[in-house]
Amino acid sequence: MPTRHTLAGQFIDIHDLAWGDQGKGSVALKIIMFLQKLGIQIRYAWKPNGANNSYHGGRKDDGSSIGSQILPLSVFADGVNAVISPGALVPPADTVAEMQRLSEQGVDLSGTKIDGRCPVVLPVYKDVEQACEQLMGASNVGTTMKAIGQTYAFRAFRFGPRMYDLVDTRERAVQKVSLAYNLANAILSGCGLEEQSFDIDEILEPIQELEQYVTDTQDILKAMRKDGEIGIIEPGQGGLLGNIFGTYPGVTSSLTTVAGMLGQAGIPMDMVAVIVPIIKAYFTRVGNGPFPTEDKGMVGEQIRQRGGEYGGTTGRPRRCGPIDFNLVNYQRELNYPDPINNNENPTKVVSAITKLDVLDGMEQIQYCDSYGNPALHEPPADIETWSAIKANFKTIPGWDQTSGIRKHDQLPLEAQNYLHLIREKTKIPIGMITNGAMLSQMIIMEEMLKAFGIH
Ligand code: IMP
Repeated sequence: MPTRHTLAGQFIDIHDLAWGDQGKGSVALKIIMFLQKLGIQIRYAWKPNGANNSYHGGRKDDGSSIGSQILPLSVFADGVNAVISPGALVPPADTVAEMQRLSEQGVDLSGTKIDGRCPVVLPVYKDVEQACEQLMGASNVGTTMKAIGQTYAFRAFRFGPRMYDLVDTRERAVQKVSLAYNLANAILSGCGLEEQSFDIDEILEPIQELEQYVTDTQDILKAMRKDGEIGIIEPGQGGLLGNIFGTYPGVTSSLTTVAGMLGQAGIPMDMVAVIVPIIKAYFTRVGNGPFPTEDKGMVGEQIRQRGGEYGGTTGRPRRCGPIDFNLVNYQRELNYPDPINNNENPTKVVSAITKLDVLDGMEQIQYCDSYGNPALHEPPADIETWSAIKANFKTIPGWDQTSGIRKHDQLPLEAQNYLHLIREKTKIPIGMITNGAMLSQMIIMEEMLKAFGIH
């Protein structure tokens, strides 16, 4: 008999509540494969925002590495189709190259969908990004240099072409690209930089290869509702990188709250069955901006080495430090149905605790649940005050080894205590724990099954 569940026609929504790099892709893939074993198939993996500023990676059980930037990592599971939603961006040549690379690795991408409303990343946006970073000087954002902010900005200006503009007639494409170049060149010349021209054939060549995938992704939602298909949302970036509630201006340019992601992707709220906030066992960040628990000493270095904490897109060393419960709770209140006072909410929330094994072998585990100067339990709304914040650290005993363990009650007692601490401090039930990069290296908790209505 097939396993019964309550996911039909709905989404599992993965959400990174920090500065990205918490393991969204591998958590999504681990959940998909776990469900497949129970005979439950996820059909669509939605990318709600961003493009190749993110990197999602993992390791198959044969030890080989897998990774993607523009497409969700979820496509590595059989029968899962990527959906590039209108809130995401399309860098045409990089998208073609990534699709080619994944196809060569045996991934079937024939069911890929790209929304015709997606803004297209034009070559000149990279020149504008360079100019912007230079203008900001020492306090620049430290972007991934993929012209993400500029592509979103040109959409906001209403000067940027979308996929539909470039898959139609050549005249329409030339007109729309010219408009964007006119504004870009006005910015470049204002900065004393050389103006750029474009070769429309060069721009359209990869677009022609992508044309077969271009569609209105709203139709997929209608079909999902009708046929009871299940989707997973695999976003780029994280809550603290959102350009309203994140550490502005050290942020990306999309909305990274749960509601913001849904709004950008065009997914109605009632289609979200379960939200899975990802809480890495420690915190990291790449790029500039405040990070109250950053450890510039040995602890940070140990985490960086053991966790392989180097930017997937840029190779930059990630800044590392202990978990900051003030920030987790800030994100919980901003994003998720209240787990304490609203048990009846139809959208369930269960967390995924990732990379627990990276802390294996540490004598003491540090954490932060309050700030001093000023004394606070959440970040101040005004970013200028963040710089003055001092994290107050507490410690809990560490453990020898969690990697290789598949059951919660077989984890060392100290590791169980750390998980209990996370559960208590965040008030979010723990749905799963990952303790290794390989796809089978995880512990699924009863709470996850409950949230999926599996019985
Ligand atoms: P952008 O998204 O390239 O504009 O970069 C803006 C900021 O977000 C920079 O600090 C980047 O390092 C950071 N960022 C963007 N995408 C990611 C991600 O996927 N993981 C971690 N940091 C990211």
